[in-house]
Amino acid sequence: TLPFPIFSQEEVTKHRSLEDGVWVTYQGGVYDITEFVAMHPGGNKIMLAAGGAIEPFWALYAVHNQEHVLEMLSEYKVGEL
Ligand code: HEM
Repeated sequence: TLPFPIFSQEEVTKHRSLEDGVWVTYQGGVYDITEFVAMHPGGNKIMLAAGGAIEPFWALYAVHNQEHVLEMLSEYKVGEL
């Protein structure tokens, strides 16, 4: 399998709207969650993390600390930092 492309934090930060795409980072991975935003069980709160790291938010909302959530996230991976 091909390696994932490397993105800068600056590039990730450009993606923080449904128009430009919604990207987030998690443990060095870059995820394009644009299609997931409308399906998020926690609603629009997910947009608080748009263009940046999700760790600070997941530290507050422990509901994400489950294997099935990480599996879901992994499907949206597009690159690495
Ligand atoms: C719930 C995924 C970002 C707030 C959930 C659940 C999933 C999920 C799968 C349901 C978990 C379960 O009940 O088993 C994600 C993904 C995220 C993300 C993939 C980022 C890529 C965020 C952010 C916030 C947030 C940034 C807050 C700022 C919440 C809240 C719930 C929730 C409050 C509970 C909803 C409820 O049960 O009423 N999220 N989430 N999420 N999420 Fe997220």
